[in-house]
Amino acid sequence: MKLGVVGVGYVGLVTGACLAEAGNHVICVDSDADKIHGLRDGVIPIYECGLEEIVRRTAKAGRLHFTTDLNDAVAQSDVIFLAVGTPMAEDGSANLYGVYAVARELGNVLTEYRIIVMKSTVPVGTHEALTRIIRSKTTAPFDYVSNPEFLKEGAAVEDFMHPDRVIIGTTSQKARDVMTELYKPFMRKSKRLICMDPASAEMTKYAANGMLATRISFMNEISRLCEETGADAELVRQGLGSDGRIGSAFLFPGIGFGGSCFPKDIRALIHTGRTNGVDMPLAEAVWKVNAAARTRFADRVIAHFKGRESHAVLGVWGLAFKANTDDVRESPAVYCVQRFIKAGLQVRAYDPQAGPAAAAVLGAGLELCQDAHGALEGCDALCVLTDWQEFRTPDLEAIRAALRAPVVFDGRDLYDPQSMARAGFQYYAVGRPSGSGDHAGQGKASACAVSGRVPPEEPC
Ligand SMILES: NC(=O)c1ccc[n+]([C@@H]2O[C@H](COP(=O)([O-])OP(=O)(O)OC[C@H]3O[C@@H](n4cnc5c(N)ncnc54)[C@H](O)[C@@H]3O)[C@@H](O)[C@H]2O)c1
Repeated sequence: MKLGVVGVGYVGLVTGACLAEAGNHVICVDSDADKIHGLRDGVIPIYECGLEEIVRRTAKAGRLHFTTDLNDAVAQSDVIFLAVGTPMAEDGSANLYGVYAVARELGNVLTEYRIIVMKSTVPVGTHEALTRIIRSKTTAPFDYVSNPEFLKEGAAVEDFMHPDRVIIGTTSQKARDVMTELYKPFMRKSKRLICMDPASAEMTKYAANGMLATRISFMNEISRLCEETGADAELVRQGLGSDGRIGSAFLFPGIGFGGSCFPKDIRALIHTGRTNGVDMPLAEAVWKVNAAARTRFADRVIAHFKGRESHAVLGVWGLAFKANTDDVRESPAVYCVQRFIKAGLQVRAYDPQAGPAAAAVLGAGLELCQDAHGALEGCDALCVLTDWQEFRTPDLEAIRAALRAPVVFDGRDLYDPQSMARAGFQYYAVGRPSGSGDHAGQGKASACAVSGRVPPEEPC
């Protein structure tokens, strides 16, 4: 099929590349000329596992093209995907400026029947506004499909190639048939292509992110209680997640969720409730608990250095909002580092991918290091803020040797308190026994519990 993708960010580039990989001819359009020129030269603007190879391969095969000219893409495509950003507006609503702008531009260049597919996350009812905008500019026929994206950054290619479900929201049988055909190569294992009306499709995306964010905040609330009662949140998590009715995903305690989706989508959900006269107390609480998780963690680290902030050096592991991405949008790690710097601490940080993006946000206050152990040289503590795989089995002896004091703050609960105490560390985690051996082990983490720990699953 001949396809256009408007907006070449995390969603648009993955969508375009994966659709081209499946044999389609795809033209990707972005208003950012530098990004497009870079992509034409083979420069991939984001870090996403497996993406670079697919972009290179499909571009070389002549199935993936990049342009700034929307007209060109619309003229040559049967189906046009929209994947521009919908960031959080000041009042918490989804800022639809980008999607409205593209709808106007589309209306201006549409001369023949096309299927317009919305991949961006947009509030319920947006399909009506967009249809109106396009109709006001053209008499050409078109069908509208709400096809929300559920990929997770860090596993985006895998998620797109093997979706556990695809939602098709449209009133047009023709568009439904085309979309079913288009997704067929990706549905060989999962047959869950669910068709519904556009409003329900729009709402499904917010409900999904709301539910996942709720699980994280619920677990963080339980962790807070664990800290006060001597229970170990990691053991509680295992016990809770092994209940088949509950499942283990999105139950990892820590410094809360971030990224470009959960925070803005929760706020937008609350805003949609407000504009429709519906209170959303649960979504409000999810937001509040999430904000408290990062604040409390940063407070705890800063309190440790009270009175000696100007001499203290903190080694930080992780700046991305979660592992396997270079995305620092709404990153709890970046929030914590901002607080540390503001409190007067000197910060040396390392992230496998997100260093440059974080440095652009954090400015001169951050000393960026090239490797994990280099970031600890001469530091008074290690602070783990992102759950990258390479931080999960650390060389404790090397950490001790590099640090001026054996202190570890673990915002992602990656380590076992007993092992840390045995290695002589003062260890502070979230919802777990803390300290230097005196309290550590209250929660009696078994060796099996430690070695059986599965890698944390992260929000998109
Ligand atoms: N990032 C994720 O993991 C994820 C997952 C699921 C859904 N979503 C949703 O998908 C949408 C896109 O998210 P993203 O993270 O890919 O955004 P992004 O910010 O990474 O990319 C958006 C792109 O759109 C381009 N753009 C903006 N206005 C444009 C215009 N008028 N014409 C052409 N290009 C334009 C920007 O230059 C940018 O390259 C959002 O609604 C988001 O909520 C994101």
